[in-house]
Amino acid sequence: MKRFLTGLQPSGALHIGNYFGALKPFVDQYRSYESFLMVVDYHALTSLKDPAALRENILSATKDYLAAGVDPEQVTLFQQSQVQEHTELAWILECLVTVPFLELSHAYKDKLAKGLEANAGLFNYPMLMAADILLYDTDIVPVGADQRQHVEYAREAAAKFNNTYELLFKEPQGLIQETVATVPGTDGKKMSKSYKNTIPLFGSRDDIAQAVMSIVTDSSGERPEHVYAIHSLFKDAPALDALYEVHRGKYKALKEALIEDVDALVAPMREKRASISDADVVRVLAEGSARAKEKAGAKMQAVRKAIGVVL
Ligand code: ADP
Ligand code: TRP
Repeated sequence: MKRFLTGLQPSGALHIGNYFGALKPFVDQYRSYESFLMVVDYHALTSLKDPAALRENILSATKDYLAAGVDPEQVTLFQQSQVQEHTELAWILECLVTVPFLELSHAYKDKLAKGLEANAGLFNYPMLMAADILLYDTDIVPVGADQRQHVEYAREAAAKFNNTYELLFKEPQGLIQETVATVPGTDGKKMSKSYKNTIPLFGSRDDIAQAVMSIVTDSSGERPEHVYAIHSLFKDAPALDALYEVHRGKYKALKEALIEDVDALVAPMREKRASISDADVVRVLAEGSARAKEKAGAKMQAVRKAIGVVL
């Protein structure tokens, strides 16, 4: 069975863009593979320095995944920081790649351009991600288009290691979810927590209603395009066109229909999420991390031998 692995940053409440762009594709596909889902808390550390917030985000993100359909019996669901082999391998890979090579990272250049602090962790980020992937002999890495270059970095790091020492690592394939278009936010731009234009995935019905009612509508058009674009995630085109025909020009009624459809998807997940305790999360992550550690530990022992530190 092929190995399927991805990582999600525990960086705050999920929105429906995260759900349709990242979580749902994972949930829809993971049963066809031997799958791994990692809460990448050490990647989050490049930007988050508040211990209480980080801890809360790890718990909360894991509840989100469990509620959205990740079954820890069928996926190794684990916490990156609890498998120290990740940071160990990252160091070894960093010693194989050059500074100019890492300087090509779009994510790094974008953050610099925005004037964000360029800590060394941010610079080395692609090698930690490469370690995340390579430790598990991953075949397929499902990610959003923004992560394409990072998967390429992992392939390059594997090749460098294999050429320098011995053939130990598989070069992974990225699986870019091309069919999932970028989900627009309430202002029509990409839905993103940094633009404050989100519809929360686990919000209450009131939170959802408030976000939907704030969708910007252009009264000159045939139909409210931003409402329609978000609605098309929930209904197929014929059903949606019929609905927008019946309510032509009645933006309030269309938004109310959208609230219904979002809530119909969210309500069962919200209920499931409320039944998951912090203690459940701690147990699930400890079990998953122990399983991951077994695999990563065996791989690292081969790596240590290959590089010459085992006496
Ligand atoms: P944000 O832009 O809100 O900070 P992240 O960058 O943390 O979101 O994204 C987490 C995951 O969700 C990534 O895999 C990303 O590709 C996906 N994602 C985020 N926003 C959207 C969107 N508007 N449409 C589709 N996928 C998205
Ligand atoms: N960099 C990814 C993101 O921000 C998260 C990530 C870390 C990841 N390690 C990974 C994704 C390994 C896939 C595989 O979305």
